[in-house]
Amino acid sequence: MSVAIDGRFMPSLEVPRPGSLMESHHPSQLVAYLRHEQANAVQLYLQYKGYHWNVRGPQFHDLHVMFDEHAKLVLDTIDPLAERQRILGAPAHYDLDALGRSSQLAVDVQLPGTGKDMIEHLAESHRHIIRDLKAGFELSTELHDPGTADLLTRCLVVHEKLEWFLRELLESRVDTLGELNVGPMVIRGHGPIQTGVA
Ligand SMILES: [Fe+2]
Repeated sequence: MSVAIDGRFMPSLEVPRPGSLMESHHPSQLVAYLRHEQANAVQLYLQYKGYHWNVRGPQFHDLHVMFDEHAKLVLDTIDPLAERQRILGAPAHYDLDALGRSSQLAVDVQLPGTGKDMIEHLAESHRHIIRDLKAGFELSTELHDPGTADLLTRCLVVHEKLEWFLRELLESRVDTLGELNVGPMVIRGHGPIQTGVA
């Protein structure tokens, strides 16, 4: 017996599979939550890489390197979030359409004009994820799933540290970070890319 979740099928709660975690947990709620967090992490990873590729100006080198370092740390959180779904008995999403539907992070319509804008957007994305991870920790604790709670705690530590780095950077170097201006570079929708640079 199986039930549909997000158009896919997974074992029913009433018929736990021998040896699985189904007997003591409520995997459908946790799987839906984990897919949401996996998608958020993928979106944030792409956001970092996009800024790593496109940042310009006097702080180019420092920001280019930092965005890539942060991207790698965010990337490392994606795999365990996906594998936890498998541990709970459900398939893990890997197609961009499904991940895009699950992510709730704000997506750029236009490339931020300054390094400061990029950092502020990244910090806000981290804060969104931090709030979600805390809610997920509460959910997994209520559902008596210490393994998921532990995973979310480890992800939370990563995002809190990266958000702190960005916040400190904004406070200590706001004067030079605001100098970068790449002009209106539209990255979604129609029309040619305009860099504003001759
Ligand atoms: Fe690179």
